[in-house]
Amino acid sequence: MNVKINGIKKHFRTVWMKGNNVFMINQPLLPHKFKIFKCKTYLDTVEAIKDMTVRGAGAIGATAGYAMCQAALESAKLRKPMKYLFKAANTIKDSRPTAQNLFYAVDRVCDAMLGKETLESAVEAAVLEANAIADDDAEACKKIGELGNTLLGSKDSVLTHCNAGWLAFVDYGSALSPVYAAKAAGKKIIVYSDETRPRLQGANLTAWELLNEGIEHYVIPDNAAGAFMKNGRIGIVIVGADRIANNGDTANKIGTYEKAICARAAGIPFYVAAPSSTFDVKCRSGRDIPIEYRSEDEVHWVYGITEKRRRSKVRVTPEGSRALNPAFDVTPAEYISGFITEKGIIFNENKGFDFEKLWK
Ligand code: MRU
Repeated sequence: MNVKINGIKKHFRTVWMKGNNVFMINQPLLPHKFKIFKCKTYLDTVEAIKDMTVRGAGAIGATAGYAMCQAALESAKLRKPMKYLFKAANTIKDSRPTAQNLFYAVDRVCDAMLGKETLESAVEAAVLEANAIADDDAEACKKIGELGNTLLGSKDSVLTHCNAGWLAFVDYGSALSPVYAAKAAGKKIIVYSDETRPRLQGANLTAWELLNEGIEHYVIPDNAAGAFMKNGRIGIVIVGADRIANNGDTANKIGTYEKAICARAAGIPFYVAAPSSTFDVKCRSGRDIPIEYRSEDEVHWVYGITEKRRRSKVRVTPEGSRALNPAFDVTPAEYISGFITEKGIIFNENKGFDFEKLWK
């Protein structure tokens, strides 16, 4: 999407590759600073995924594909390239456990290299495939926007959680893509963005995106969403997904489950927007989805800028208190009205979801 820098709009993707280097928008610096971060080796790229310089299911998927591609390029200079590649694939897969797109992308690049006659042609295939993954992600998200827009009225209000906008993908986003398409179609949409403790993706990233696109929005405390749903301010809830099990149970940012329950209680539709690359056929239900636990420091400390625009961190808990920091929760399929995918909207029929069309 476009970013205004010094008054000039320029199109950016969240992540891209040039030569052997992977470039990404440095997300922890947003919304106060826009900077590009460069990863020279696949291990640098793995670190960037781990420390969330890049985050969001589709964005870390594309980044993981590029990391695998960097490993392929690096392996071409070694005596035992296969050993290096196996280790790289495992190291990349170990970087974050929940988002299915990461595993999907590593496997896609590895599969593309398989069976090639020379290492040179395998490396070429890796480069092509990693770029194709990024292009497919952007294309799928654009389509999600077009389809999701049909669910929105000419005046509507959307609640979203975390950041499932373009920063969480290569471009366009999932949950916010319908909002962008609606804006382009002349609809008047108001977005309510949960701030999303502890990493504040809603307050920092979703708000920054919406501000950039000129969309009316309010950042609300996480614990205000239920009340706003009950008192009629919210017309529809749209969230993203990190992994969707075969029965429709969906892992997304911690707090999503509560929003789904509140939406059900208030009689508001609750949609999950995600490309088919987020669906994991190997997970039978949400119980099979690995949930990442992150450092308790993310709960103890909050980042922001001072009045003098200096980046600063402050502690919000007493020294000595412990914290727990699960990064995701699972919303049972029964609370989900439908999935907005690039292949169509899959509605919750009484018997559950039929995902067949995703694999055609
Ligand atoms: O921990 P993050 O920021 O990588 O979490 C991913 C997310 O941004 C959310 O869970 C999002 O709603 C789905 S990812 C498109």
